[in-house]
Amino acid sequence: MTNTASIAKGLEGVLFTESKLTFINGTEGILTHLGIPIQEWAENSTFEELSLALLNGQLPTAAELAQFDANLKANRAIPEALTEIIKGMPRGVHPMQALRTAVSYLGLLDPQAEDTSAEGRRAIATRMIAQFSTIIAAINRAQEGQDIIAPRMDLTHAGNYLYMLSGKEPTAEQSRLFDIALVLHVDHGMNASTFTAIATGSTLSDMYSCITSAIGALKGPLHGGANEAVMDMLDEVGTPDKAEAYITKKLDDKEKIMGVGHRVYKYFDPRSRVLRDYAEHVANKEGKSNYYQILETIEKVVVDRIGSKGIYPNVDFYSGTVYSDLGIKKEYFTPIFALARISGWCASLIEYTGNNRLLRPDAVYTGATDAHYVKLQDRQ
Ligand code: ACO
Repeated sequence: MTNTASIAKGLEGVLFTESKLTFINGTEGILTHLGIPIQEWAENSTFEELSLALLNGQLPTAAELAQFDANLKANRAIPEALTEIIKGMPRGVHPMQALRTAVSYLGLLDPQAEDTSAEGRRAIATRMIAQFSTIIAAINRAQEGQDIIAPRMDLTHAGNYLYMLSGKEPTAEQSRLFDIALVLHVDHGMNASTFTAIATGSTLSDMYSCITSAIGALKGPLHGGANEAVMDMLDEVGTPDKAEAYITKKLDDKEKIMGVGHRVYKYFDPRSRVLRDYAEHVANKEGKSNYYQILETIEKVVVDRIGSKGIYPNVDFYSGTVYSDLGIKKEYFTPIFALARISGWCASLIEYTGNNRLLRPDAVYTGATDAHYVKLQDRQ
């Protein structure tokens, strides 16, 4: 019998659960976590604090945050066997492929991996949040043929990541800028990768399987891969004077522009505004970024030409210029997204599986209904 229910293409507007973590109003460009605007988180908080707040569903006390911070630091090191796997990975693979493999392998080394109780999921989440940073930095170093740098326990999560890239301690300003970028990426409601993590988790599969699935979803250029694609576009444009003609031609040719448009936001993504301010600050201070000037022009043309369709810059539009300024290569922009989003994935997984129901949507069948098997030798 044909299912005549209407199809929500791309699952647009489909509500499948309740959540207390993140609220988005796409028409007004509002994003809150636990009811608190993203701008306030960016200004006042840290990656560590927002991660814990989402895992617990409330702002932590000073003692709870200190304990969580200590747990993260104590779990920064990764097993030697995983370091060897990372060193042995073929050169030239995309770091998101490497991250997917590393996280899956990490699950093989964790005796608690199959513990799907709420406490088990929380313990694994804390370890994974701590270890993602070390894994991604190790992949970066190994892929460039450099020695892997062990984490330091006296730096912040953001500062330690930057330290593990080069072995040089970042300035307080660099650490804070990176921390803010992480805060902006921690969670974003039922985005494709969080949904993927939850879909896997809804089968009562283990955390490592859920997070490996989410990494695969984040990798795509329509989701987390867009930040890298924005940098490719900027490199293609080259200089600010070519930006207007370049983007006008792309729009005339009906090509998609990376870093703009969003399923939910039909106005400026508030995260893009915070990142734009920091990108502008860095560009003004150092006077070296062609990138920022190109982006300014692209933003203006896009908003003039297709803003009426609800297409505005998203979080990926300005993030790359900030990361580049911190010395991060563009292939690592999407892994850095994962470095932040791991907290959102884990918090959403714990929330959903606390009141779990198997996710199992349906498709309208449009294939043949009265066919019969034809033997191989009788087919044309
Ligand atoms: N450039 C130009 N036009 C666009 C863009 C874009 N980036 N995005 C959407 N449009 C247009 C489409 O051409 C379409 O126009 P039409 O109605 O005239 O045919 C209309 O807007 C709707 O587009 P859809 O692709 O159907 O919208 P959807 O909600 O499925 O897409 C998406 C959202 C995938 C993010 C899209 O805007 C896009 O591809 N953006 C570029 C990639 C990107 O930046 N992704 C990062 C998103 S944020 C994140 O994941 C962190």
